[in-house]
Amino acid sequence: MSFTATTDTPGGAGVGTVAPAASFGVLRLPRTVLFGAGQRGALGRVAAGYGRDALVCTDARLGASPELAELTACLTAAGVRVHVFDRTEPELPVSGIVDCVAGLARTPVDSVIGLGGGSCIDMAKVVALLLSHGGRPSDYYGENAVPGPVLPVIAVPTTAGTGSEATPVAVIADPNRAMKVGISSPHLVPQAAICDPELTYSCPASLTAASGIDAVVHLVESYTAVGRTPTAELGNERVFVGKSMFSDAAALEGLSLMGRSLLTAQREPSNAEARHDVMLASFLGGVALGTGGTSAAHALQYPIGAATHTPHGFGVGALLPYATRYNLPVRVGEFAAIADALGVASGADPWTDAVAAIEALDALVDGLAVPTIAELGVREADLPMIAEQGLLAKRLVENNPRPLDHAALLTIMTHAFRGDRTLPEPGPHQK
Ligand SMILES: NC(=O)c1ccc[n+]([C@@H]2O[C@H](COP(=O)([O-])OP(=O)(O)OC[C@H]3O[C@@H](n4cnc5c(N)ncnc54)[C@H](O)[C@@H]3O)[C@@H](O)[C@H]2O)c1
Repeated sequence: MSFTATTDTPGGAGVGTVAPAASFGVLRLPRTVLFGAGQRGALGRVAAGYGRDALVCTDARLGASPELAELTACLTAAGVRVHVFDRTEPELPVSGIVDCVAGLARTPVDSVIGLGGGSCIDMAKVVALLLSHGGRPSDYYGENAVPGPVLPVIAVPTTAGTGSEATPVAVIADPNRAMKVGISSPHLVPQAAICDPELTYSCPASLTAASGIDAVVHLVESYTAVGRTPTAELGNERVFVGKSMFSDAAALEGLSLMGRSLLTAQREPSNAEARHDVMLASFLGGVALGTGGTSAAHALQYPIGAATHTPHGFGVGALLPYATRYNLPVRVGEFAAIADALGVASGADPWTDAVAAIEALDALVDGLAVPTIAELGVREADLPMIAEQGLLAKRLVENNPRPLDHAALLTIMTHAFRGDRTLPEPGPHQK
């Protein structure tokens, strides 16, 4: 199989056009979003609005940091009693969630604050869920299995990438599952997001790269997602509906910010403007993926992450150049619009601009020094197994604009393994 598509996809855009869902919208957001340098100082008053007792889910690094001491003082000054769980582990193993909830038997909790990267925010979401509805995390795996509202979650991100502060999903590592698993429900969208770019200044270059490229993939995959027929049931039946006008708007704005600032944020960690742009783009990535959903690169990262225990962002980033090439033939209009957002469009014709977008995204991946899948530890012999496992991520596979089967996923993996960035040929009407 080559990267060239000969037919359009069901539910996808016409070749060279923008997908039809552009007049349909679904939006699910935190009730309060405070964004900007210094906004972490509002945490006390926000938490006080939900009650007297706040549980902070964070990790060992932040548990011993001046940032946590500062935020605890801010909460206490607002009359909030603070309980801290500081043993959240990266990639969120399920055992840590169970331990946290078990330790809270006699602790009153009115709100759960997720302070840290995506792992800590997802921890806060699942802990709030279990404190509200009982049971085990596995009772809620998949889409729409959460029976009702959960304790208020206040997300305070310290990385700029996952966008979890705005999304309806928590991603968990469960040793009983071959791949990471999600709990997806509109009830998991945090009640409040406090996004303070100053909290990301301490991110080292490799974390800025891994989390930043994760956000770029969220933005690209939600903007190029499948477009579904906008029935009145769609927004209730599915958490992730595919393309819609709100996710499209968020995605293009986010890509424009990333094009301008991601490489600068990695090279100049204290550059206030770049950190602001990247955190805003990451939030917009969460808004976009929270309804638009992700697709091929995420489906393939799940088995790669499980096999290699490497950061999620590096996995999706390593796959981006190959997933975009596979999807290009059915998303020419979208990639041309991305070229505009990234400031690389020439206006010559949609195909030329679409290719310019894909090459500009390649340049971001390369500029950030995202490792290849071979460098992440994938072996050639693993490729068929990864394609097979990726196919099991049905929600992500169905969200891809061009149909994916085992052969297609294996093609993407093989090109990624060889570093083969050959572009597909344009179809007869694509020039
Ligand atoms: N819920 C969602 O919508 C969503 C979306 C994408 C990814 N995820 C999940 O999020 C997790 C990844 O999150 P992540 O990329 O933010 O990393 P992370 O939360 O796993 O943290 C990685 C490491 O970075 C450190 N760290 C965090 N902030 C720091 C800072 N400011 N300075 C220095 N070190 C810092 C942490 O202590 C940790 O050691 C994965 O489990 C992934 O599956 C969730």
